[in-house]
Amino acid sequence: NEIELAQRFDFAVALARQAGAVAMHYFRKGGDLRTVEKGPQDLVTIADHDVDCLIRHSIGEHFPDDGILTEESGGKIAQATWVIDPIDGTGNFARGIASFAISIAFCVGGIARIGIVFDPVADEMFTAWRGHGAFCNGAPMHVSATQDIRQAAVEAGYSRKAPLADYLALLDRLLDAGCEFMQFGSAARGLAQVASGRIDAYVEAHLFAWDVLAGLLLVEEAGGCTTGFPLVGDGQHGLAVFACTPGIGAPLRAIVDARGKTR
Ligand code: IPD
Repeated sequence: NEIELAQRFDFAVALARQAGAVAMHYFRKGGDLRTVEKGPQDLVTIADHDVDCLIRHSIGEHFPDDGILTEESGGKIAQATWVIDPIDGTGNFARGIASFAISIAFCVGGIARIGIVFDPVADEMFTAWRGHGAFCNGAPMHVSATQDIRQAAVEAGYSRKAPLADYLALLDRLLDAGCEFMQFGSAARGLAQVASGRIDAYVEAHLFAWDVLAGLLLVEEAGGCTTGFPLVGDGQHGLAVFACTPGIGAPLRAIVDARGKTR
C-alpha cells in the first residue's frame, strides 16, 4: 500500500546517500581498487563489495521480508523485491572517472514502483515513485522537448555481452541519421540524464535488471517512453533497453530495429 511504499521511498533515498558516501570514500583515493575481474573488462572493486554489504544489511534490518537482488550478490525475486546495482559504471569508478551511480529499484509483482539513481560526484539524487513523477534533488524533471532526430543526443551503451558488429552497425545508422552519439559508461546514470532532459535517449542491446530498473522508471515518470524491462525468473537475464523522449520515439525505434549499415 501507499504507506509502505512511502516508507520504502524515504528509506531508499537515505540508503542511496549512505551508499554514495561509501563509494566516495574510495573514489580517486589512489591504489588499485580492483578485487576480481568477472570477465574481460568487467571489474568488481572493494567499493562495490562495501556498498553491496551496506545495502543488503540495511534492507535486511528494516524490511526483512523483502527480496533482494544485487549485481554483486545475486539473490532472489519475491513479490516485493529490491533490485540494486551498488555501483553502476564500475569501470569508470575504478579509473577515477566521474560517471557512475548507485541504482536502487523497489519492485512489486515484477514492476518497479520506486527508482533511485544517485550520482555522488555531482551530488544529484534522481528519484521516481510510479504515478508521482520524477525529481532531481527535489525539483521535477521532464524529458527533453526534442522532436527532430537530427538534433538528438543518443547514448548507446556497449559491453562485450552483445555482438560487436551489431553495435558498430547501430552507431553507423545513428550517425547517418544525424544523431549525436554518446557513451558515458553507466546505464543507470545515462537513463537519469534522459529523464532530466540533458540527452534524448539511451539504448543498449544487453543489460541486466539491476542496471536499469530504477533508471527506466525515472524516464517513464519524466514523460519519456521505454520498451520496459520484465523482471522474471531469477532476474539474471540480459535484455535490450530502449528509453527516449517521445518526440523522437518512432524514428529512433526504426533505427534501432533496422539491421546492418546504411552505407
Ligand atoms: C555496466 C554499465 C555500462 C553498460 C554495461 C554495464 P556495471 O554496468 O552500466 O554502462 O554499458 O553493459 O554492465 O558493470 O558497471 O555495473
